[in-house]
Amino acid sequence: LKARLVVDRDFVLSDLDRRVFGAFVEHMGRCVYGGIYEPGHATADEQGFRGDVLELTRELGATIIRYPGGNFLSGYNWEDGVGPSDKRPVRRDLAWFSTETNQFGTNEFMDWSKKAGIEPMFGVNLGTKGPDEARQFLEYCNHVGGSTLSNLRREHGYEKPHDIKFWCLGNEMDGPWQICHKTAEEYGRVALETAKVMRWVDPTIQLAACGSSHRNMPTYGSWEYGVLDHCYDEVDFISLHTYFNNNADSTAEYFGVIELLDSFIKEVAAICDAVGAKRRSHKKIMLSLDEWNVWYKTHKIEHMRKPGWPEAPPLIEEVYNAEDALIVGGALIAMLNNADRVKTACLAQLVNVIGPIMTETGGDAWRQTIFHPFALASKFGHGRVLRTVAESPSYTAKAFPEIPYLYATVVDNPLDGSTTIFALNRSLSDSMELDVELRGLGKERTLVGATEIHHANLKAVNTKDAPNTVSPKVNADVAVDGEKLRIKLKPASFNVITTR
Ligand code: AHR
Repeated sequence: LKARLVVDRDFVLSDLDRRVFGAFVEHMGRCVYGGIYEPGHATADEQGFRGDVLELTRELGATIIRYPGGNFLSGYNWEDGVGPSDKRPVRRDLAWFSTETNQFGTNEFMDWSKKAGIEPMFGVNLGTKGPDEARQFLEYCNHVGGSTLSNLRREHGYEKPHDIKFWCLGNEMDGPWQICHKTAEEYGRVALETAKVMRWVDPTIQLAACGSSHRNMPTYGSWEYGVLDHCYDEVDFISLHTYFNNNADSTAEYFGVIELLDSFIKEVAAICDAVGAKRRSHKKIMLSLDEWNVWYKTHKIEHMRKPGWPEAPPLIEEVYNAEDALIVGGALIAMLNNADRVKTACLAQLVNVIGPIMTETGGDAWRQTIFHPFALASKFGHGRVLRTVAESPSYTAKAFPEIPYLYATVVDNPLDGSTTIFALNRSLSDSMELDVELRGLGKERTLVGATEIHHANLKAVNTKDAPNTVSPKVNADVAVDGEKLRIKLKPASFNVITTR
């Protein structure tokens, strides 16, 4: 199989917003309790934060983390999670039919964020609550002091404002499963009024309205248009959520989800621009892909709810395999290739709950297969994304009419002179000879490193006892000749090649 990839230093798609390497922590299952927070764990610090999970979060390279939900958000009282922990109420969480002890809340998350080196992305409850609670919560978090709510934060031990910049206006409000689901009309109005008062409290924030929960929602398209028709002028982002599946158990079909993600992004951008055009607006709404991942093996009700209102039960603890890692790598390429519109994205979630990190409560933590493409993308995804011209044979699938075997993106980092190629070979049988031309990027290039994620068994998984079954390996089959590279990509492999 032969393919070709050409870029030119002057043909820049966009600067890359590093917030596309985000993740998500929800009060769901063992993501918070038993995941990031487990007082008494051998690696826990004085605040109960698991040291092993903190270390893996840093290694993952997550830049921004969305909190506290998810469906959980739509029934959450922020007041429950602040102040002395022995006074915090125990509640029934109607999103996941669990008991929420509120021992972990906003201030703990902010402390954890600092230790993890990430930026927070918060959400306000627009299910059971509304604009008033949202502006109060923001005042508690971001106002310097001198008002009752900002003074309350200070009393709670947080003298300085948290200065949280990115806020989601609710979660998946288009979904009938949502606590207090709304129509586009109802939600668009609430989003507008909430955005207005939040901006009056803190004009420096960025706001994301809820888009569709997935591309197959019956209201998809009309939802985005209807919502933005109300709140276009007051919001900066619209969200997209997507979870990939291999229900057909065909890897060739499965690769089609990457093309569908590309379509999803372009369609939502087009809808935003249609609303903008109608208003004759110069403003562009950006996209926040603030929940995405592979999720299908545990996408059944018995994995989402356990009887008896348990505390932090194991929920949707999807075990990822080698082909899932290729999909995650491909999805990251799709985001980079749309870096002019996708400015934030959150791999959902961070730990245990459909997470790249897995833990045993009271025991070890390890990297799932999908950890690796994400960590590589975050490590090498700095700078600006170049426009790629790719030539590759393709195949036809039911999921998508034309799937090129090669799927690639190129990121150039002017700060250190490095250029990185991310490339997926979607052929299951053939290795690919890839010729790359990095035009205008310097004739004296040398190889910095080439890494591949590949496993002969696409169903191979990482476990506590065999945590490195699927892990990055060196690809020694790279030749660099000035601006030109020839790389051999194994069948079904995700590759990261850096030159300088
Ligand atoms: O990430 C799991 C759940 O998926 C989230 O709570 C919800 O927003 C989505 O439906």
